[in-house]
Amino acid sequence: MTAGAATIEMRGLAVTYRKGPAWRRILVPAVKHVDLAIAGGETLGLVGGSGSGKTTLGRVMLGLVRPTSGTFLFEGRPFEVRLRKQGALSVVFQHPEWALNPRLRCGSSIAEPLRIQGVSRSVCREKVDGMLAEVGLDAELAGRFPGELSGGQRQRMAIARSLITRPRFIVFDEAVSALDVSVQSQVLNLIRKLQQEHGFAALFISHDMAATRYVSDRIAVMQHGDVVEVAPAQTFYGRPAHPYSRELLDAVA
Ligand SMILES: Nc1ncnc2c1ncn2[C@@H]1O[C@H](COP(=O)(O)OP(=O)(O)OP(=O)(O)O)[C@@H](O)[C@H]1O
Ligand SMILES: [Mg+2]
Repeated sequence: MTAGAATIEMRGLAVTYRKGPAWRRILVPAVKHVDLAIAGGETLGLVGGSGSGKTTLGRVMLGLVRPTSGTFLFEGRPFEVRLRKQGALSVVFQHPEWALNPRLRCGSSIAEPLRIQGVSRSVCREKVDGMLAEVGLDAELAGRFPGELSGGQRQRMAIARSLITRPRFIVFDEAVSALDVSVQSQVLNLIRKLQQEHGFAALFISHDMAATRYVSDRIAVMQHGDVVEVAPAQTFYGRPAHPYSRELLDAVA
């Protein structure tokens, strides 16, 4: 990491999707001109309406979508694909099914990012056991298939997989949205515990203003591809500056 560099830094970043065949191409401006930074160990909450560009922005940070224009730096340097291979960053999706192969026992799914790096089976097994304990799952569950777990257990498994390489940055994209309310708070507590223990930086994308407040240091609000407000969580929830931010908060008050 370049000394003093933020984990994530975006300047004038834009993403325009191209849809349809060349002779009838439709351009979809998903992210318009975003300046945003996430410091080491910081969690930025990203809220905003459906289709406002949150997932697209998260995918740029993961190196999965190439910006159409602007700058994106990871730890002060242009993004390199090897970062993903090395497990320097990872993602937790709304649906744990996307991260867990239904035909693999959960233990193997969790170990997969390490196996790709050539870590031996015995070391993997040891690390998987430790990781399961960290996410509050019994070691015995490593032998089960994802279909043999509850939704909450599956999401804990997916979190274990995303953490196994000790990433320095994690995107949580609606990570608790599909869970029952009681399970949601357990998983949010788990995320907070892991933030404190591991110190990773994170982007927490959510429709849920209360959940976002619970885990975020700062909040960014997106509307139609623009970031319209960025503020420390305490300021934001006490005194939101942008009319759209007030609308979002009023909707749940
Ligand atoms: N692969 C794609 N190809 C073309 N357009 C896309 C693609 N992915 C997203 N879009 C469009 O880009 C815009 C932003 O989508 P995005 O998924 O980033 O929004 P979002 O804020 O995550 O929405 P939600 O809250 O519903 O998940 C939308 O208009 C969407 O239709
Ligand atoms: Mg989304």
